[in-house]
Amino acid sequence: MNTIEAIKTRRNIKQFKADPIDRDKVISWLEAATFSPNHRMTEPWKVAFVGPETRAKLNHKTDFGGAPLVLLLTSKGSAMPIEKEENAYAVACFAQSFMLAAASEGAGTFWSSLAAAPKMREILEVPDEDVVIGIFGVGYPQEVPEAKERISIAEKIVELP
Ligand SMILES: Cc1cc2nc3c(=O)[nH]c(=O)nc-3n(C[C@H](O)[C@H](O)[C@H](O)COP(=O)(O)O)c2cc1C
Repeated sequence: MNTIEAIKTRRNIKQFKADPIDRDKVISWLEAATFSPNHRMTEPWKVAFVGPETRAKLNHKTDFGGAPLVLLLTSKGSAMPIEKEENAYAVACFAQSFMLAAASEGAGTFWSSLAAAPKMREILEVPDEDVVIGIFGVGYPQEVPEAKERISIAEKIVELP
């Protein structure tokens, strides 16, 4: 699968098979994602493997589509607002890299913003200064949905003098 194909075929997966996912594979996708862009090499990504006890406390409405694995991605905070912001951009890049790496090997990911809520941050032990990027179900998709139509990029382009 080439990169453009991977970008276009990755979907947010809502329902997973019960099949477990190999931890070494997940680590290899995370490792690949560490090559994502990040300003001044802050490498601001933090990854938590969410265990069953914590996962149950989150009480997600579909339990992450039955994904065999749940990962939390957070971004290192900073006293400098610009650095904090740029760190979050870098971890969003990391998230996309991870999702594409997983998709290119037949796995799927479900991005949920549930973890950003204050109560969820507390359950997930996220330090106050850090930014929650998302919490992700990871596994093998029961079904890969059709892509939702996108607005043509031509409508998003402006020409500056
Ligand atoms: C910051 C962010 C937060 C998201 N939070 C949720 C969420 O809470 N629940 C959900 O179903 N999808 C969530 N998504 C996934 C989007 O709904 C999904 O990417 C979008 O519908 C496009 O579908 P696709 O990824 O399959 O192309 C989130 C995506 C991003 C980037």
